[in-house]
Amino acid sequence: MKKAQIDLIAAARPNFMKVAPLYHALTAESWCDVRLVHTGQHYDANMSSDIFDDLGLPDPHHHLGVGSGSHATQTAGVMTAYEPLCLSSPPAWIVVVGDVNSTVACTLVGAKLHIPVAHLEAGLRSGDRRMPEEINRLVTDAIADLLWTPSPDADANLAHEGVDPAKVERIGNIMIDSYELMRERIEGDGTRARMGVQGKEYGVVTLHRPANVDSRDTLEVLVEQVRSSASRLPLVFAVHPRTEKQLKEFGLYDRLVSSPGLTVTEPLSYVSFMNMVTGARLIITDSGGIQEETTYLGIPCLTVRDTTERPITIEQGTNQLVEPESLLETVDAVLAAGSDAAASRKPEFWDGKAAGRAVESLKRRLRQ
Ligand code: UD1
Repeated sequence: MKKAQIDLIAAARPNFMKVAPLYHALTAESWCDVRLVHTGQHYDANMSSDIFDDLGLPDPHHHLGVGSGSHATQTAGVMTAYEPLCLSSPPAWIVVVGDVNSTVACTLVGAKLHIPVAHLEAGLRSGDRRMPEEINRLVTDAIADLLWTPSPDADANLAHEGVDPAKVERIGNIMIDSYELMRERIEGDGTRARMGVQGKEYGVVTLHRPANVDSRDTLEVLVEQVRSSASRLPLVFAVHPRTEKQLKEFGLYDRLVSSPGLTVTEPLSYVSFMNMVTGARLIITDSGGIQEETTYLGIPCLTVRDTTERPITIEQGTNQLVEPESLLETVDAVLAAGSDAAASRKPEFWDGKAAGRAVESLKRRLRQ
């Protein structure tokens, strides 16, 4: 019997931890061949190939080499590069993950060529349409054929939007699969020692959202709040390329790197970063995935945003939303509450088995 070809689309750093468990689970199956397609949205070694290596992903079968650009340029670039591949050898299914520009671009290509598309991490909504990711989520979920959700709130969002329930399957949170797959290496990794920090006696910072880093006023407030917070608790700030560019453009970079108590580093590979996260007293971030990882690990997470598409991390987990101006005050409150205060419950299906459920789901759909 001819094997079904599945295209797995990987584009930007937060995608790789979602693609890896599914790649490993699918390659263990005899009924399919997996074609790993990297759109090239992220291309620096520390944003891409280092993380691929950490997660045991091979070189992609196809690299579309799209690179950076405006939203239209990037989205159109991915579509223009991916369409010929689908025309010359159409996959049986396309699997897209997360909410980046490449996610919506490949979904549009599939939908127009009548190739079914599965969206992993479907149904999340921040309610804030100024976020580019929210537009990507809305469009992707409106036209994809199979929607794999991580949590009941995502199911409810899709129901509210009138999505046919037959398209929706809750498979859980695949980021947790990546963590569980790599747990031993994460625990044995030496990044904490290399950074000169002791378990539970430091915090980790990541910030990259346009709303936080693209305006000088907001970024300056954040730099000041992070500087002050570092006087309470040593902080390690892994600076995203977008943030580094903006800090330099606004003349804030030197002020940040000279802060006592603060270590500034370039983006870390997955294992190194998770070694830092697992030992941290608290995390300051505007990332999506880190809100989930900290809930799973029971580590306080201060999310510098006014909305989240992951409300379950607040309701059941360790996450709280913080305004830039209130960061120091919130750090103080977390430290004063003591290290046992971050009570959290692991949401259902955040169990390291999401990839297996996705594979079963695809198999079922192919039989239909
Ligand atoms: C993208 C995603 C965002 C995700 C984030 C994780 C969209 C709309 N945004 O945002 O959802 O949370 O990735 O990192 O898809 N750059 C480099 N090297 C790289 C990649 C980017 O230097 O490997 C630079 C670019 O030149 C650009 C900036 O970083 O100046 C932003 O990159 P881009 O991919 O456009 O968006 P992100 O902010 O990374």
